[in-house]
Amino acid sequence: MKLWGGRFTKATDKLVEEYTASIGFDQQLWKEDITGSLAHVAMLGKCGIIGEDEAATIAEGLKKVAAMIEAGEAEFTVENEDVHMNVEKMLIEQIGPVGGKLHTGRSRNDQVATDMHLYLRARVVEIVDLIVKVQESLLEQAKANIDTILPGYTHLQRAQPVLFAHHLMAYYSMLQRDAERLMDSWKRINVLPLGAGALAGTTFPIDREYVAELLKFDAVYTNSMDAVSDRDFIVEFLANASLLMMHLSRLCEELILWMSDEFNFVELDDAFCTGSSIMPQKKNPDVAELVRGKTGRVYGSLIGMLTVLKGLPLAYNKDMQEDKEGMFDTVATLHGALSLFAPMIRTMKVKKENMRQAVAHDFSNATDLADYLVGKGMPFRQAHEVVGRSVLYCIEQGKYLLDMSLDEFRQFSEQFEEDIYEALNPVNVVNARNVLGGTAKNQVEIQIAAAEVQLKQT
Ligand code: ARG
Repeated sequence: MKLWGGRFTKATDKLVEEYTASIGFDQQLWKEDITGSLAHVAMLGKCGIIGEDEAATIAEGLKKVAAMIEAGEAEFTVENEDVHMNVEKMLIEQIGPVGGKLHTGRSRNDQVATDMHLYLRARVVEIVDLIVKVQESLLEQAKANIDTILPGYTHLQRAQPVLFAHHLMAYYSMLQRDAERLMDSWKRINVLPLGAGALAGTTFPIDREYVAELLKFDAVYTNSMDAVSDRDFIVEFLANASLLMMHLSRLCEELILWMSDEFNFVELDDAFCTGSSIMPQKKNPDVAELVRGKTGRVYGSLIGMLTVLKGLPLAYNKDMQEDKEGMFDTVATLHGALSLFAPMIRTMKVKKENMRQAVAHDFSNATDLADYLVGKGMPFRQAHEVVGRSVLYCIEQGKYLLDMSLDEFRQFSEQFEEDIYEALNPVNVVNARNVLGGTAKNQVEIQIAAAEVQLKQT
């Protein structure tokens, strides 16, 4: 017998039952569902909408149902469609017809929205904590590599040398924005829809603020139609998750490149790599590849959710049941990626000497040669031209800038003097970028110190 069976004269088609049921995935919400119901029933009792004794009986029953589910003794069925009706059915089985009073003044529409808000607000806190752990691992590696110089790239061509610490701190900053976005979304997640009823509110003298207080929501939705139709908070979460995954994916791409023989800048720990079934020599950065790959499904969930909502009339439509799987999948994907990322970064071996060698064999100090001439009064555009010709000369001669004799330098400009060798030294090249946010060691130390303070506050 369906909870809504009264109006029907025949049983639901089996395929329809399976097609429309959400219990297969929304059973994950059982705790939130019972938490919400406990607050609702306490309010019904307090407001005299049902007897205080009835409210107490229902609350006891709900706790029994929770214990049964927790113990794995409860059976969720497709016949009961979703987590809300499964729980209500179990409650009525436990305490009899009085259990049927729980749904007074409530609809599944405001109930499911409440469950989702409760669910996501807890997950956001967990995810921010996991982000912080990744940030800490980046910070740790940054501190260990405050003197490690590697080529910085633009167009994936050697550009200017940077500190590896600086490179890592760039990712720290991206993750900081991700954490801040998630924390900011809290104020939109932590709003209570319950009390909106099916769409129009309810005829019972409920106390929404009391429910909000019990459930620790900061506010209640001020419009009942908005309350049951709003899934912005899920879209926002998926968008925040997409940005976060995009950042992790970019770092993954770099780790994968750096671990190739062509770069040979880092080695990820054995515990975070896998081998090949045929090629005995292989050590593959699978975790990094998979995080990069899984970024796609998170974007997919975002686009899926936006597309589900586009063109939906107010208020609740069954389409909205499609809000769950993408969200659950995204939460699981973030948990997986972030949990692995922190130890993977922390155990990463940095091949400092290879990075140093790379910088010693490139033209990433060419800008500094031009800046040197500018320092002697030459207009930058002219200096650029002079250095361009010097680089071309070196390429033809099979040498780098620092291999040139002073006489060779002077063929290109009379302004060059002995101090040019100091100016071109990679350590000096890095430290010359002593501007706020630059790669000079003392600037990176400032970034690191600020990050340490910031992490303590997050
Ligand atoms: N399982 C439904 C969902 O996830 C719950 C709300 C159902 N409401 C309704 N009027 N059919 O969206």
